Amino acid sequence: MSDFTSNFWSVYVAGITLAGIFGCLLLLWFSGKTKAMTDSDNTTGHVWDGDLREMNNPLPRWWVGLFIITCVFSLAYLFLYPGLGSYQGSLNWSQTDQFDREVTRGNEQAAPIYAAFAGKSAAELVKDPQAMAIGDRLFMNNCAQCHGSDARGSTGFPNLTDGDWLWGGKPDQIHESITKGRTGVMTPMAAAVGSGDDVRNLANYVLSLSGGPHDSVRANLGKPKFAVCAACHGADGKGNQLLGAPNLTDNIWVHGAGVESHIVNMINNGKTGVMPAWESKFTPEQLNVLTAYVWGKGGGVADASAATKAPAAAADAASVVVEGGVVKFFFATGKADLAPAADKALAEIVAGVKAGKKAVISGFVDSTGNAEQNAELAKQRALAVREQLKALGVTEDQVELKKPGNIDAGASAEARRVEVSLG
Ligand code: HEC
Ligand code: HEC
Repeated sequence: MSDFTSNFWSVYVAGITLAGIFGCLLLLWFSGKTKAMTDSDNTTGHVWDGDLREMNNPLPRWWVGLFIITCVFSLAYLFLYPGLGSYQGSLNWSQTDQFDREVTRGNEQAAPIYAAFAGKSAAELVKDPQAMAIGDRLFMNNCAQCHGSDARGSTGFPNLTDGDWLWGGKPDQIHESITKGRTGVMTPMAAAVGSGDDVRNLANYVLSLSGGPHDSVRANLGKPKFAVCAACHGADGKGNQLLGAPNLTDNIWVHGAGVESHIVNMINNGKTGVMPAWESKFTPEQLNVLTAYVWGKGGGVADASAATKAPAAAADAASVVVEGGVVKFFFATGKADLAPAADKALAEIVAGVKAGKKAVISGFVDSTGNAEQNAELAKQRALAVREQLKALGVTEDQVELKKPGNIDAGASAEARRVEVSLG
């Protein structure tokens, strides 16, 4: 792409460039040819200080040779590469192309390394020394300038190694923080709080939450004012990770020490903390490695849902669970086959039916795929369970098929179930 808005300047610049080169050659040829003003003693006749004469020797051969080579080289270069106005050069080379090629080559070389990390959870990656070494390098080059090379942060930049998180310390929350970035906004609150004295009282109350140095009389006076802060920091001051509002009760301060003047300042002026988004800079694998690296720095919070999700996802198979008198049949994706050993779990239901109660059967499906097919699948599953009950001696009028209120219960294995309860 040309930087020139009109062709004139391109030609103009190219013309000057070429004129310069040919001018040099011409001068060289010209000055090699004529020997102007030569006296008999091979001087120009110029004399300084009585004795200092200017010789009229020709240019040294080697020097002329180098000069010519330089000119020829520059002409060849300008023919092959961009340099003459907007002329692209016969090789059509550009810096961006070369950069892109190098990046692609680098990514290709790294791909097999990253492929080994694909699909691994943070907990698994943390145990992989190679992944952590890469995470360390990525962190040092991209994150350390704000969060510190030890990831402990500094004023305004959160410590990533403690258990105190603005936005949450589970792997998916950290991943979200890195990928999409975060903007924590605390609006200036002075107007909502009241007079300068009110603000000081409130600041003392905030300090009292974490047992910091405070005036307890002021803290008591300030306590009711905290109501305006509760929307973000919570009524108990423990913060809200959905808003990035810090916990004010733990004596960990993102924006400096917990002293009255600092908190007064915070209330009066508010604060906006910005964590840049890295989605466009890194590959998904790199983002996963960085997530694991940060998560493994010591403050990472165990992902409770991973513990329950992982086994179910690993075994996408039917199973039976009895929970609080309700028998739950879980199904494999898209299937209506009952788990083996379902009879045992149903024995309780059968006993209840024999005692005069009704078995209420509801089919649930996950929210993936076509809604109509899902409704049909839910019905098939419920019918499969009814057949099972019939086989155990329950008659059709002792069974009630009931459509659950909410069929769309998420995309998890938990959602692919039939519940049987006694009604
Ligand atoms: C709109 C939501 C919101 C309200 C209302 C709010 N805050 Fe905040 N507050 C935040 C956020 C978000 C941060 C973190 C700012 C950042 O990310 O840099 C913060 C930070 C702070 C901090 C600094 C904490 C630290 O670790 O250094 C203090 C102190 C504080 N708030 C006190 C208050 C008090 C007192 C009030 C009530 C007058 C209040 N906030 C009202 C959202 C809020
Ligand atoms: C320009 C400075 C800057 C850079 C560079 C930066 N961060 Fe941040 N980061 C911040 C700030 C500021 C916050 C706090 C945002 C807020 O106030 O809510 C933050 C927050 C975070 C959080 C959330 C912390 C919490 O308590 O929930 C994580 C995780 C994080 N950064 C990781 C990274 C990683 C990994 C990198 C490198 C890829 C990185 N950051 C690069 C400034 C930066």
